[in-house]
Amino acid sequence: MKDFSKILHLLQCTQCKGDLQISPNNFHCTQCNKEYPIIDDIPRFVDDSFYSLNKKNPTIESKTKNYFGYEWEHFKDWGFIKDQDVPDAEIDRYKGGRISDRENAFNSKCRLLEKEISGKVVLDAGCGNGRYTYEARKRGDDKSILLGVDIGYGSVESSFDNTKEFENIFILQASLFNLPLKNHCVDSCFSNGVLMHTGNAKRAFTEVARTVKAGGVFVAHVYGKLNPVWEFNDWWLRQITTRLSISWCMRLSSAMAKLSGLINKLPNGFTISNLFLRLQPSLIHMFDWYSAPTASHHTYKELFNWYNENNFTIADDVPQKLSEQKSLTKRPWGINAKGKRR
Ligand SMILES: C[S@@+](CC[C@H](N)C(=O)[O-])C[C@H]1O[C@@H](n2cnc3c(N)ncnc32)[C@H](O)[C@@H]1O
Ligand SMILES: [Zn+2]
Repeated sequence: MKDFSKILHLLQCTQCKGDLQISPNNFHCTQCNKEYPIIDDIPRFVDDSFYSLNKKNPTIESKTKNYFGYEWEHFKDWGFIKDQDVPDAEIDRYKGGRISDRENAFNSKCRLLEKEISGKVVLDAGCGNGRYTYEARKRGDDKSILLGVDIGYGSVESSFDNTKEFENIFILQASLFNLPLKNHCVDSCFSNGVLMHTGNAKRAFTEVARTVKAGGVFVAHVYGKLNPVWEFNDWWLRQITTRLSISWCMRLSSAMAKLSGLINKLPNGFTISNLFLRLQPSLIHMFDWYSAPTASHHTYKELFNWYNENNFTIADDVPQKLSEQKSLTKRPWGINAKGKRR
């Protein structure tokens, strides 16, 4: 059992913002008495329909809980696969899933430095299977407190399991639209590939930003806006794929991953095909792309505005980042920025 008293001072009621108290199996609000059960060592700040895969899907959040929950339950090992276990012939299919990929991606997408983790309160906003929460802990120390928050049913279970060797990692099931965290209680935060899947990236950004201290940092990574042909193709294809069941979407994603594998063997095949459509040889990437109930695409200009509006100073080379999105053919599919709270 995790020692939840270590994070009590960071938490607040999602209903009335009151302080919480802890009992063996739940947190409860000292003001409105709302109870938040702790199930499988994971405090739950969502209603019980979010605890498992089910067909009650009236909202984006509940659909997300199902599709991403399934993804991270199914691909629990993604980011934890030993490099030496991947045969050379299979590297394409496993790119992104190996430990070395996780380490490299943390440097380029999550971007926290050791000094921003050690002894600090760190938030992984939308932690998926916990691969980057784990990586952050490896770069920090046992005095840090690491919080991994996600709404998905399988995300929280897999991230808990993947990170359970560390006593100072706490996984919470909650929505980024209503975090159970006090204002200005987090030193360092990263959110990789999440905000654009919430249905309102700016609103989710603002809610995460609320929790960051003055002087604290927030690294946000979202999908970039690509060329108009690519955007159009992505739009109509996802009109179909987001209406498929999980099992049909897996079948389609598997076919697309195989097709990508073949295209990747042609000279420049990948570079050219990705001007028109997102294709990757790894099944998880195809499933992630096609199944996500909502996926918005953004510009650096928008991202920088979110930082400015929330009192963050951009800690990046702004003109250089803006220029990355100017070329129609070389726009990045993922963009990220680091901001420091004033
Ligand atoms: C593409 S995955 C990325 C996971 C992780 N950051 C990573 O890079 O491995 C997106 C995650 O965002 C979570 N998510 C989407 N909307 C959310 C919301 N409103 N609140 C909390 N988590 C959300 C999903 O459940 C999913 O695990
Ligand atoms: Zn309350």
